[in-house]
Amino acid sequence: MCGIVGYIGNKKAEPILLNGLSRLEYRGYDSAGIATIENTAIKTIKNKGRVAELASMPNIDKLNGTIGIGHTRWATHGRPSSENSHPHMDNSNKFAVVHNGIIENYADLRDFLKSHNYFFLSETDTEVIPNLIHFHYINSKFEGEKRFLKAVIDTCKMLKGSFALEIICSDFPDNMVVVRKDSPLVIGKGKDECYISSDIPAILSFTKDFYLLNNFEYAYISRNNIKFFENDLKEFNKEINNITWDAGAAEKDGYPDFMLKEINEQPKSIRETIGSRISLNKPTVLDEIDLDKKYLSSINKICIVACGTAMHAGLAGKYIFEAICEIPAEVEAASEFRYRNPIINEKTLCIFITQSGETADTIAALNLAKSKGAKTIAISNVIGSSITREADYTLYTHAGPEIAVASTKAYTSQIVLLAILAINFAEKLGINSEKIAELKDDILKLPSQIEEVLKDTSKIKEFANKIYKEKDVFYIGRGIDYTVALEGSLKLKEISYVHSEAYPSGELKHGAIALIENGVTLVSILTNRLLVEKSISNIQEVVTRGAKTFIVTNQDFDNKFDVIIRVPKTNTLIAPVLSVIPLQLLAYYISKEKGLDVDKPRNLAKSVTVE
Ligand code: G6P
Repeated sequence: MCGIVGYIGNKKAEPILLNGLSRLEYRGYDSAGIATIENTAIKTIKNKGRVAELASMPNIDKLNGTIGIGHTRWATHGRPSSENSHPHMDNSNKFAVVHNGIIENYADLRDFLKSHNYFFLSETDTEVIPNLIHFHYINSKFEGEKRFLKAVIDTCKMLKGSFALEIICSDFPDNMVVVRKDSPLVIGKGKDECYISSDIPAILSFTKDFYLLNNFEYAYISRNNIKFFENDLKEFNKEINNITWDAGAAEKDGYPDFMLKEINEQPKSIRETIGSRISLNKPTVLDEIDLDKKYLSSINKICIVACGTAMHAGLAGKYIFEAICEIPAEVEAASEFRYRNPIINEKTLCIFITQSGETADTIAALNLAKSKGAKTIAISNVIGSSITREADYTLYTHAGPEIAVASTKAYTSQIVLLAILAINFAEKLGINSEKIAELKDDILKLPSQIEEVLKDTSKIKEFANKIYKEKDVFYIGRGIDYTVALEGSLKLKEISYVHSEAYPSGELKHGAIALIENGVTLVSILTNRLLVEKSISNIQEVVTRGAKTFIVTNQDFDNKFDVIIRVPKTNTLIAPVLSVIPLQLLAYYISKEKGLDVDKPRNLAKSVTVE
């Protein structure tokens, strides 16, 4: 939900800002803008449309400032337009601000400012911020840098909601103030220059040294110095983090899109997720989690909470925890969980899965669980992301940066990590040792098995070419295969804009089968030996009514179907890691056939930091 970038140094800011914005476009892409300071005047260029359109605007390369801020927008308040694009300025053009987040009390703040004769040029919630800063600045008793900083602090104290802000001021052409609350922001430190961004990968090619701001920590940034302040203007020291990610990880590496690259990276990402956590004949190593046998024996339920694809990984996790740990597990969408009164207490273990670690609903759900006394584990892919600062324990997937909006490698890594966690619990509980040994063996084989699945994708491409004009596609599966059906169906909707529904195989005949007619496409996932015959009967029921079939399976059967994609055999509990890959590719190729922007599908954003 909006990406922000900033630069202060000795180089021209404009190309650096545009480069950073293009890497942050996955966060929103309906408008973009940048502002720099030149000869103590702020110059802004912004427009509706993508970053590439901004980059080709006349005069953009005439912005010569060496300090600047930039923004790529996912509209919340006000339609995409030039006026609503960021940066926003105060009425006197002294301050320019870019903002990621939502100001919930912006209407009251507008009234307050209007009563002091301020006016507004946009429909956004953000425009109150530069004007409030101006209000506090002109009424300040402070001087110099404290005056600038204090005006920002006093403004932030009035804001309700979430924000990551970068602020420049024409009175301070060599400084920038940045702050965050519940929206991500990192500061990269180079030699005599600083880079600011919503995420690390966008500026990884410039530096590997980062400061990760916590809520209400203010950074007063100069070219060669960063000072950190708390709300009460007290200065404090902050630790710098060295990030080991390789800058190439945020590049397309010869692939036409990030999504295809990320699908193909799955052997590597799964290897990284496994790392040294499991090896045969030795207990799992999960030093991050110190829950002991006494605690694990006392819990009566595991609640898994997440959104979107991460929730589908959680659904697979339910099967794994119940089978391996013999503890009941529930899965719920964070947006639902947080607005009811879930029955949880100190005997509930809650696991929150979020690739970005920034999803507002998931973070709010975690805070609710904590307030009810539950222990909380966050599973995230982003080091230092917001949720990792709130959870009792954090496990990182280590899947590497995921840039495409539709999640692929993060999903498979989440499932593998859930399986490792379940094994770790079962080992501590001293149960199911045989099952665990087999599962470990199968987990270790996954990376090379994924390589096999990725070797020949021609049948999937051909089928995509045949069905890309379809209006409806049905996905079915039984047991854990149903959770993969849900994920396959979501991928198709997200990037191909094809309506699709996922059903438990046995449920289809209780209603949706009425929609099956000649030519409709049915995608079926079939990886459980014990359920093969029943599932084939369900597929036959649909074939009889004229459906085209695309089957992903690791089972042996002689029945003839239109397309059968064979994936390697593995433990049913981790079969989703292999069976989802043909479905990711099917959605990908359909989207390509339709000529769509695979990495940046309409209306979506990768990191949903609003409710
Ligand atoms: C958005 C994205 C999805 C993602 C979901 C949860 O809706 O478009 O791809 O699965 O958010 O994101 P998270 O970062 O919490 O895993």
